[in-house]
Amino acid sequence: MSDDKLYDRFGKQMPPGTILFREGESGKEMYVIQSGRIRISKQVRDVEKTLTTLGPGEFFGEMAILNNKPRSATASVEEEAKVLVIDPKTFEAMVRGNAEIAVRMIKKLSARLQEADEQIENLLLKDHNSRVVHFLSAMAIRQGQQVDGGTLIDISVKDLASKVGLEVEPVNEVLNKLIRAKLVRITETGLLIQDPSKLREFLEFLEMKE
Ligand code: CMP
Repeated sequence: MSDDKLYDRFGKQMPPGTILFREGESGKEMYVIQSGRIRISKQVRDVEKTLTTLGPGEFFGEMAILNNKPRSATASVEEEAKVLVIDPKTFEAMVRGNAEIAVRMIKKLSARLQEADEQIENLLLKDHNSRVVHFLSAMAIRQGQQVDGGTLIDISVKDLASKVGLEVEPVNEVLNKLIRAKLVRITETGLLIQDPSKLREFLEFLEMKE
């Protein structure tokens, strides 16, 4: 089916701030993002913590269908989004009818698990410097984009803080140190790691200290 036909049948457009579902609710639909950004978050004590933000081509809401469990997190629209809403029957028909879809989902789910493992390792580091440098280093390898002057990571300081379990202020302090040491630059499109191998050497040094 063409993208337009898929959208006519399953599509939904939503403005920023829309809550698609909340953690703990029961839910039977999964979603595929066609455009925009969706925030996946969890309430930790009184604070809403971002687990991740997802963009075009990514899917979410599959866990409740696969495990028959309540929603494990809240999904909200961060940037005006178009999504395909897939009911369990369609989902099953898609997976049964096309092994490629199942393989792509397994790959995506294992990448998510790898990311979660990295995050556990990160949160076990006590020192703020190590957490930020460890995260940037892993992200540069996993999804860094090679550009003039280094490796670009598409993440805001706010999301970075959320990923490493710190407030924005201490993360800014670490970033300022990295900027002064010419390891990182803040650009309009994200954080530029000027030399990822030097950043890894710095991480080894911090780990030795810790
Ligand atoms: P579900 O539990 O149905 O609802 C919340 C959704 O958020 C979940 O399915 C996943 O699709 C998604 N999700 C939960 N945890 C993560 C994570 N760590 N990274 C990416 N997506 C996640």
